[in-house]
Parts: sequence; C-alpha cells; structure tokens
Amino acid sequence: MRYRRLGSSGLSVSVVGIGCNNFGGRIDADRAAEVVHAAIDLGVTLFDTADVYGLTPGASEEALGAALGKRRDEVVIATKFGADPRGANGPDWGARGGRRYIAKAVEASLRRLGTDYIDLYQLHTPDPQTPIEETLDALDALVQAGKVRYIGHSNFTGWQTADAAWTARDRRLTPFVSAQNYYSLLERSVEKDLVPALEHYGVGLLPFFPLAHGLLTGKYRRGEAAPQGTRLARDVFEKVLATAPWDTIERLENVGKERGVDLLAVAIGGLAARPAVTSVIAGATSAEQVRANVTAGSWIPTEEDQAAIEAALTG
Ligand SMILES: NC(=O)c1ccc[n+]([C@@H]2O[C@H](COP(=O)([O-])OP(=O)(O)OC[C@H]3O[C@@H](n4cnc5c(N)ncnc54)[C@H](OP(=O)(O)O)[C@@H]3O)[C@@H](O)[C@H]2O)c1
Repeated sequence: MRYRRLGSSGLSVSVVGIGCNNFGGRIDADRAAEVVHAAIDLGVTLFDTADVYGLTPGASEEALGAALGKRRDEVVIATKFGADPRGANGPDWGARGGRRYIAKAVEASLRRLGTDYIDLYQLHTPDPQTPIEETLDALDALVQAGKVRYIGHSNFTGWQTADAAWTARDRRLTPFVSAQNYYSLLERSVEKDLVPALEHYGVGLLPFFPLAHGLLTGKYRRGEAAPQGTRLARDVFEKVLATAPWDTIERLENVGKERGVDLLAVAIGGLAARPAVTSVIAGATSAEQVRANVTAGSWIPTEEDQAAIEAALTG
C-alpha cells in the first residue's frame, strides 16, 4: 500500500481508501466488518462515511464504528455533516453549516462511531445560508477541543475553495485540507476549475463515484444485462447502464490489456495518478472487491501510460 499526505496537511492516508455509503444499507453490519478488516489487513487506512449514510441516517457510522472496535487507532475516520439527515439532529431550517447545527452533529457522529475524535470532518455540501467564516470558526473550535483533527469540504466549486482558503488564512482559522467531489475517468468536469484551485491551495481531492458505480470494474458489458445483485442491476440505476459510454470504457480496457493490467487498475491507479488526487475511496460490498481494488491501486502509470489513458478518454 502507498501512503500520501492529504493535500498539504500532515495527515497521511492510504492511496486506496474505502467508501462506506453501503454500510448499514445494502450491506449489513457483519458484511461491513468483513470489508473493514480485509481492508485494514491490506494496509488501507482511510474510511469515508457520513452521518446521512445508511438505511436510517447514521447506520453507516454505527456499522463502521462497530467493525473497527479496538482497531480504531489503526485507521483514519473521515465522516461528514451538512447533508439532510431527515430530522435526526433536530430542526435545522436548512442551515447545516451553522454553529448551532455543527455542535449537535459532531456529538451524534462521535457517539455512533464509538470514538472520541474524528480524523477528518467534512462539510458534505455547501450551505448557502451560513457565511463560510461561521462554519470555519465552528469547526476550528472542534479542532481546538480535540474532537476533530482535520477538516474538509465536499461538492465545493473552485471559487468556494478559494473563498474558504482565504477566509481561514485571514481569520487564522483551521483550513480545509480536503475536497470530495464527483470524479472518475468517465466524469471529469472538476478538472477545469476545481482541480487547479485545489492544487493552488494544497487541498487533497478524494473523488467520489470513482468507479462510476461499477462501470469501470469490468463486470458490466455492452448490450448485456447487469449481473444479479450488483448496484447497476437495481431499477434506480437503469439509466446509468443504458447511457454508459461503452466506446470509452472499451478503449480504457484496451489501454490496460496492452500493459498487462485490467480495467480496474486503469480506473483506480489511473485516477490516483491525476493531479490533486490523494486517495481513491471506492465503495466495496465484499472482501474480494477490497482485495481487487487494493491490487488495482498498486498500478502506477508512467507518463506514456497516462498519455494513452488521455487519448482513450478523448477518443
Ligand atoms: N461527498 C459526496 O457527496 C458523496 C456522494 C457519493 C458518494 N460519496 C463517497 O464516495 C464513496 C465512493 O462512491 P461509491 O462507492 O458510491 O461509488 P463507486 O466507487 O463508483 O462504486 C462502488 C461500487 O462498485 C462496485 N465495486 C467496487 N469495487 C468492485 C470490484 N473490485 N469489482 C466489482 N465491483 C466493484 C460495488 O457495487 P456492487 O457490488 O453493489 O455492484 C461498489 O459498491 C462512497 O462510498 C462515499 O463514501 C460521497
């Protein structure tokens, strides 16, 4: 396993992490524990969850906390607040980046995770109602209190990243060190505006949906139905399969074949090599998937490999 600093912070994380949005939802606590222990045994340190994940909000944090047990100090727990927890934190009037809300949300997450500190606490989505200065000030207080080690944002644009970085610098508050945004070899809109801002401000990128819901794993094929039990076999994802960019996927697979690696390696190793990306936090529903993803993340593309990936993406 390779490890990297998250942005320009002193927090070291594994290049392959685990996204936990399946925990307490599609996979139960026992299966989640298998995934977590397989991952730790392979050197994975970064586990990403959120207070809204799970069949009921918080079920993912509970499953992660229970699975970690005594191994909590071996890992980096990243969780999030600020998406709609459907009333779980009491009335919030939509101001989920405010001081009142954050004070409540963090206690609930700590309790569910069964820990007294969160390594990376992320604002899940921008809060248009609350000035970023108030959000940063409330998060800074959590860092000073030792409840949170580092802070990150998610679904921010380039200008929001710059605004938050300057506000933290100007007010001497703890800065955001990570960004979480929709990014995979098939969805690259962040590259234009956000990625240059992240590089400039030393913010590490944790792409979400890095496998495009599984399209980049090689288990879905043009013209074929999704294998039973997979994410894209579910009705809500019907459109993802129907509109998949098969030409691009097949070109990427060929790039891998010519180099003796599979599509998964191109997807994970290739994404991990792109500017600003610190760790690829794909979700996994089994220990086998974790093993495959860790192996895929050990592929380090050369400049020539990266040029071939770029050519495959642009057609
Ligand atoms: N900040 C945000 O707004 C936001 C939004 C969404 C997600 N996230 C975070 O980002 C993480 C990653 O996103 P994601 O997990 O939804 O999407 P993803 O990484 O694109 O897809 C993960 C899914 O692909 C399948 N898969 C993974 N590895 C595989 C392998 N080796 N072989 C075959 N299939 C494999 C699994 O689904 P099946 O086995 O069910 O087919 C798995 O659940 C989430 O867990 C969450 O922590 C954040």
